[in-house]
Amino acid sequence: MALDRKPAPNDLSAFWMPFTSNRQFKSNPRMFVGAKDMHYTTADGRQVLDGTAGLWCCNAGHCRPKINEAIARQAAEMDYAPAFQMGHPAAFELANRVIDIAPENMAHMFFTNSGSESVDTALKIALAYHRVRGEGTRTRFIGRERGYHGVGFGGISVGGIVNNRRFFGTALGGVDHLPHTHLPENAFTKGMPEHGANLADELERLVTLHGAENIAAVIVEPMAGSTGVLMPPKGYLEKLRAITAKHGILLIFDEVITGFGRLGAPFAAQKLGVLPDMITCAKGLTNGVIPMGGVLTTAEIHDAFMTGPEHAIELFHGYTYSGNPVACAAGLATLDTYIEEGLLTRAEELAGKWEEALHSLKGLPHVIDIRNMGLVGAVELQPIDGQPGKRAFDAFLKAYDAGILIRVTGDIIALSPPLIVSEAQIDELVGKLAEVLKTLD
Ligand SMILES: Cc1ncc(COP(=O)(O)O)c(C=O)c1O
Repeated sequence: MALDRKPAPNDLSAFWMPFTSNRQFKSNPRMFVGAKDMHYTTADGRQVLDGTAGLWCCNAGHCRPKINEAIARQAAEMDYAPAFQMGHPAAFELANRVIDIAPENMAHMFFTNSGSESVDTALKIALAYHRVRGEGTRTRFIGRERGYHGVGFGGISVGGIVNNRRFFGTALGGVDHLPHTHLPENAFTKGMPEHGANLADELERLVTLHGAENIAAVIVEPMAGSTGVLMPPKGYLEKLRAITAKHGILLIFDEVITGFGRLGAPFAAQKLGVLPDMITCAKGLTNGVIPMGGVLTTAEIHDAFMTGPEHAIELFHGYTYSGNPVACAAGLATLDTYIEEGLLTRAEELAGKWEEALHSLKGLPHVIDIRNMGLVGAVELQPIDGQPGKRAFDAFLKAYDAGILIRVTGDIIALSPPLIVSEAQIDELVGKLAEVLKTLD
């Protein structure tokens, strides 16, 4: 190609879009060109109500002035500082501020740039933690069917979404999966389902099979988001905690979606009353505005590394952009916004209204399940015979035309509006979705 080629602004060919049906999109593009609070503006000038907080990340809504101003200020003052062997104040402040709102046993934070990196970082910390304590045989991981832990090799190995794994070879060895917790007898449950705590007992079987001394960590999402919103059955996470603690296995909660207020508490661990050994986060940490993630750990895990000569690096891991100053500024202003506006607990206040609105969709054509917790919801549709995912994708396209942004995975519609959503906007979102569902083949 000639170097002076100037592609037309509407040339969509070069960008290979992530997790997208590229050919379908490029034949009929859906372009956002602006965003403010609860709405996106489309290229053809329409307002679209954001029912998904972007990709579960814009918890405070869009283009919040405090966050944007903090980013501009930091970029002008100091754009970048090396992350290795050098520091800058905002990174320390942000880590302290996140730890302040985190579950009581969390004491340290390692910065990454995404949820996928957070997961791979947590898995590496788990391996290294056991090794520095002289338990280097603990190398196996246990994830869960239908789990989503990002797209790194570690994440897809412990993850359990088939299409995210099947094209990419054998990935990490030594990984087992617990059964998923999506049981038909729990259909249309409001909040946490009654049935399924016993599925955690499978962990005991895996421990017996491999020997506890060979297992490093169990990783689960406390509420599985990307696979289509699967709630933890009552008592299930408590069981996982008890079994892992009994066998010296670390428990990692992947809170990339549930962190920062989605379920009505800063973290799901607090809402659900179960304390893991590590928490991964991203998305809501910076309101999605600048890529950033993190791993929270207990003092016990961190302190296990703080031995040996003082000049020696304790953990051979990190990213060029770990604790990037502009991302930290975004994170601090995001936390200020969450706290000033009560957003870390607002999902709890709205949960009743949200639940009632969502469950009003019961009885509409093809709806086979509705689930909800905090400000998350899912409407599961009966798949069209031989065309899995087609019905929900049609709903997604029709919803966009109707002025609402929803997210679909398989035949499940997932909803997670920004935590600033009003009651009237909940009614609008669910009302428009109801009209869409009535038109589906
Ligand atoms: C639970 C969970 N973990 C990890 C990730 C990956 O995050 P990212 O896309 O920022 O790499 C996601 C993304 O949706 C997620 O939901």
